[in-house]
Amino acid sequence: MNTYLFFKSIHLIAVISWMVGLLYLPRIFVYHSEAIKNNKSEDLMSTFKIMERRLFIYIMNPAMIISWIFGVLLIYTIGFDNFGSFWLQLKLIFVIILTIYHFFLFQCLRKFDRNNNSFSPKFFRIINEIPTVLLIGIILIVVFKPL
Ligand code: HEM
Repeated sequence: MNTYLFFKSIHLIAVISWMVGLLYLPRIFVYHSEAIKNNKSEDLMSTFKIMERRLFIYIMNPAMIISWIFGVLLIYTIGFDNFGSFWLQLKLIFVIILTIYHFFLFQCLRKFDRNNNSFSPKFFRIINEIPTVLLIGIILIVVFKPL
């Protein structure tokens, strides 16, 4: 069995699952904050809270951890001297921003949970573009591997 290809397959499955959550959670926040603005029912609010919590706990968190573990295992497999390569440094910067974004969404989730959200639907629509831009950047970096 080719260990490198095995690690890469798990890495890609985890990364896709993580991206699904990073793109979808702020979408739920858009609908949730609109519902608060329009004084919708408590039932609807608790449905949003459950959707947000389950997406974060059961999909996003494990997917992020597995992406990191298998990403680091891939670095180990191709050799730690690759830290000297520009493409890997650039990729890690993008992935660290993605990870900070992940924890920022967790802070937003906690605020919604305590009925304390301070951001508008427009804010969530705008920040929803952040993972899209980072995803495009990361794919171009890993495929073209600039120097
Ligand atoms: C979480 C931290 C991450 C680390 C440490 C990491 C590291 C790596 C490494 C070392 C490789 C192997 C590159 C090679 O064989 O030349 C790789 C492959 C890959 N990674 Fe990541 N990665 C991470 C997150 C991500 C994310 C968030 C994405 C996409 C959004 C991503 C997309 C890919 C793709 C598409 C490949 C396959 C590239 C190829 O086969 O040419 N990675 N990753």
